[in-house]
Amino acid sequence: MHIDILTLFPEMFPGYLNESILKRAQAAGLLQIELHNIRDYASGKHRVTDEPPYGGGGGMVLKPGPIFSAVESLISNRQSPTVARLPIILLTPQGRPFTQKVAQELAQHERLLLLCGRYEGVDERVRQHLVTDEISIGDFVLTGGELAAMVIVDAVARLIPGVLGAEDAAEDDSHATGLLEGPHYTRPETFRSWSVPEVLRSGHAANIARWRREQALRRTWQRRPDLLLTAELSDEDRWFLGKLAAGER
Ligand code: ADE
Repeated sequence: MHIDILTLFPEMFPGYLNESILKRAQAAGLLQIELHNIRDYASGKHRVTDEPPYGGGGGMVLKPGPIFSAVESLISNRQSPTVARLPIILLTPQGRPFTQKVAQELAQHERLLLLCGRYEGVDERVRQHLVTDEISIGDFVLTGGELAAMVIVDAVARLIPGVLGAEDAAEDDSHATGLLEGPHYTRPETFRSWSVPEVLRSGHAANIARWRREQALRRTWQRRPDLLLTAELSDEDRWFLGKLAAGER
């Protein structure tokens, strides 16, 4: 997958993107990240990228010109089928909420373009005539879209086949199944008198799978009951949740 990131602050990215799994994914050729400085596409001696808003009010608004030029220079051939489908995503608190489902949707694309907003926002004509999608990573306001872009790159990259060690390592993630994940344990068997649950040491695969499922259901019921409304649940799951609700588990 190829991800272009347009930002006024490209230096914010390398520290995070060039470590650990994302570093390996890039070295293995599974992921290419290209950073582009919007200022490089601004005209005039001072390469101005933002100006005060028409109508007054505080803050600065990103000008449309440099953003259109930057995007158009990256996608010079708009007729090509890949480019016609290319998501051009503006990161903004006004966008649609980013979820695991959206990450899965974006992971299907060969290429993404992420546009990081700054200051009070971007000129409305960028929204209306250039971007194809707007995404928010949560109901809070950041100083810009850069962290949001990194969040999206991270969540999407780990869904690309081959990026995580084991092919199925992302399948049981919290949210991937519609439920929160249950607890994990590793050695030692007893730590400060707290022991690993017996079932996990039993070697009985079916019992372990059932226990894990029940733990995931319990955790979701306790912490995010809203997720149970949309999760895929078996009859056995529903029976267990009934017991939980009745206080019998
Ligand atoms: N830019 C500022 N706040 C943001 C948010 N919550 N999500 C995405 N981009 C943003």
